[in-house]
Amino acid sequence: MSQDQQGAGVQVGGTFVVTDGARRFEDRVAVVTGAARGIGQAVVERLVAEGATVYALDLRQAQLEETWAGVPQVTSIAVDVGDSAQVRAAFDRVRAEHGRLDALVTAAGISDAPWRSDPAIGGSPEPETIDDEAWDMVIRINLTGTFYCVRSAVPLIREAGERGGAIVTISSVGALAPYPLPAAYPASKAGVLGMTRAIAALLGKENIRINAVAPAATRTEMLPKDEELLAAMVALQPIPRVVPTSEMAATIVYLCTQEAQFITGQTVNVNGGMVM
Ligand SMILES: NC(=O)c1ccc[n+]([C@@H]2O[C@H](COP(=O)([O-])OP(=O)(O)OC[C@H]3O[C@@H](n4cnc5c(N)ncnc54)[C@H](O)[C@@H]3O)[C@@H](O)[C@H]2O)c1
Repeated sequence: MSQDQQGAGVQVGGTFVVTDGARRFEDRVAVVTGAARGIGQAVVERLVAEGATVYALDLRQAQLEETWAGVPQVTSIAVDVGDSAQVRAAFDRVRAEHGRLDALVTAAGISDAPWRSDPAIGGSPEPETIDDEAWDMVIRINLTGTFYCVRSAVPLIREAGERGGAIVTISSVGALAPYPLPAAYPASKAGVLGMTRAIAALLGKENIRINAVAPAATRTEMLPKDEELLAAMVALQPIPRVVPTSEMAATIVYLCTQEAQFITGQTVNVNGGMVM
């Protein structure tokens, strides 16, 4: 990692991360899921740029290792977040190596079961086309997997003491606005919001905060490949554009900082005004 000479920012692996030079995560330990690519990758980059030590969790081991090769602040762990034993083992490692946790961001997710292969929208939205296995898989990864990670993180955050810590879950504008998506996805993302509020209500007095971010179209592999469809989706937003992952990461990371210390249980709509 080297300080850029021309502008405010830091090189993290292959990405130049634009920052204002702040080091809000100096001596902080974070776990980020879905960290091999996309929004999770951008969150890790931003955290590292601001001083954090990060555990990057993802199902895609090869991509995870490739993304974080040569970034000593990042430890890659291959984990299926929908497998509670694997999640526990990953957090046990954080406990063994650091004894505490300051922040968790749960970005691992899927838009639909992979075998439902319509490349345009990741499966027909018609409810009768969603079989039991596809429904269960989306709920298991997006909702249950998020819960498993939060459940393992909370006792470790308690170890940080009175300072507490922050969790950011990733929902979706699809949970809140009437998009004709295959129903398992918005159902899983709405579940994340309910879970986030309940845990926020419970843990606020311990200074453990949890908020959800609900993104709209963000430039990742998850977006529809059909640019016309994408343009039509984005045109519905008051701010009609697809955002880069760095922009999404900026808000997610802000919610993890001390600056956001009075914010908990919120759904933060980073979706160009699609939900108001
Ligand atoms: N990109 C968007 O427009 C958008 C919009 C709304 C919400 N989201 C949400 O943002 C989050 C990040 O998505 P993204 O756009 O970066 O997509 P992405 O596909 O680029 O990244 C998702 C990552 O999660 C990982 N993952 C999938 N299943 C996993 C599992 N079982 N265990 C561990 N890791 C797993 C993938 O390997 C991948 O690296 C997701 O929860 C997604 O639903 C994305």
